[in-house]
Amino acid sequence: MPDAAPPMVHVLMVCLGNICRSPTAEAVLRHKLHRAGLAARVRVDSAGTGGWHVGEPPDPRSQRHAARRGYDLSMLRARRIAEEDFHLFDFVLAMDEDNLAELRRWQPAGARAALGLFADMPVPDPWAGGPEGFERVLDLAEAAADRWVARLGAQLDGLRCG
Ligand code: 4NP
Repeated sequence: MPDAAPPMVHVLMVCLGNICRSPTAEAVLRHKLHRAGLAARVRVDSAGTGGWHVGEPPDPRSQRHAARRGYDLSMLRARRIAEEDFHLFDFVLAMDEDNLAELRRWQPAGARAALGLFADMPVPDPWAGGPEGFERVLDLAEAAADRWVARLGAQLDGLRCG
């Protein structure tokens, strides 16, 4: 019999609209996981707590700022978080406290997901502001993604040895 598939970790990024912060976080984390050789072991996705932009690509400003740093957001499409996400994902990571509070309200009993903030600090919503807000999202996402790569790598090492 072939060996069982190696354990995977599932990570969902969540913001309000799923067109600015969480798709940026998704692309940055995926890029860094790829560079760390962990892309096949971690599934990354994103969703919004609001449904206004479902089916849309990320905001053109998010795409433009991210592309300048080498991240391609063009294939992503917004979706709203669903109940099953709380059962399918190990980590559901909010961009700010408001969205984290929504997640805590919606989390069904018995769900596997650990809820928390993606970054050490809230990632401010750039949607109604200027270009510096989109750069700030990228700065925070890059720093936070480095920490998540280290954490997820350690967790996967533990799963393999344990
Ligand atoms: P995001 O930004 O939560 O980072 O995707 C927003 C995008 C759209 C809206 C709010 C925030 N909106 O109200 O439509």
